[in-house]
Amino acid sequence: MAMTGQASRSEIIGSSPPEVRDERWHIRVRKLKKSFGTNLVLDGVDLDLERYKVNVILGASGAGKSVLIKHFMCLLRPDSGHIYIDGTDILSLESKALSDFRRKFGLVFQFAALFDSLTVEENCEFPLKERGGKSKAEMRDIVADRLGKLGLQGTQKKYPGELSGGMRKRVGLARALVLEPEILMYDEPTTGLDPLATRNVDEMIMATCEQFKVTSVVISHDMASVFRIADRIAMLYNKRILEAGSAEAIAGSTDPYVHEFLNASGVGAVQKLAAGEHHP
Ligand SMILES: Nc1ncnc2c1ncn2[C@@H]1O[C@H](COP(=O)(O)OP(=O)(O)OP(=O)(O)O)[C@@H](O)[C@H]1O
Ligand SMILES: [Mg+2]
Repeated sequence: MAMTGQASRSEIIGSSPPEVRDERWHIRVRKLKKSFGTNLVLDGVDLDLERYKVNVILGASGAGKSVLIKHFMCLLRPDSGHIYIDGTDILSLESKALSDFRRKFGLVFQFAALFDSLTVEENCEFPLKERGGKSKAEMRDIVADRLGKLGLQGTQKKYPGELSGGMRKRVGLARALVLEPEILMYDEPTTGLDPLATRNVDEMIMATCEQFKVTSVVISHDMASVFRIADRIAMLYNKRILEAGSAEAIAGSTDPYVHEFLNASGVGAVQKLAAGEHHP
């Protein structure tokens, strides 16, 4: 049954207050405002992201998607509003508590951002070394485990330049996973990839979400990809969340702006969704 945006909002209001840890909602954003000088980017964003699910944030270029997710890790501070993670208002944390808290997150960037002069193994060991406390053998085992689970066994001694773009993205993900994050954020993970590599990365995002039990936050422009991977979709439009809900609810939305956005993407995602291609 298709839910309307209204239903999805009341579903959120019906659950526990954001100051309390909620089994379902992992990250809860309330009335978030952010401007840079005179450029008002976010003007009262309310958003709930579901635990252990793939949550996609959709929006036009420049809408403020990257700005929004940077707030989740306190890489940016809002002008006003709140971000609750597991019931904790992260804006109230002191620097020590904040740096502990940041360990919950893994970030996968648009470009894998690997060190070209380091091997795959050295790249993946990097965050473990920084954190400290693990022996060389332990680090090697952890890295081998993550690489293996992502289909990258045997690449340890290779350099990033020897790998394809899709493989580099997976190495970037393996590196993010060595620290066992609770929340993984992907900022446009498929930009610059061909359709086949995009599909591989999509599958990797879904499999990682399930296999490692991480709450996944994905920013994407690619509508076909969005409807393939999303458990939930939030549309950032005009400085706010215009509509949020399951992929089915968004596809079935009656909001004219949601329709316009989906139609403008021109990939027939909605039709594909209706034909049952969600989560193949
Ligand atoms: N550090 C910053 N200082 C000043 N302005 C910024 C900063 N970061 C982002 N902005 C502005 O905030 C707005 C939103 O930017 P943001 O990067 O979040 O867009 P986006 O939705 O991620 O777009 P894209 O899909 O192109 O990545 C833009 O107008 C941008 O110029
Ligand atoms: Mg961006």
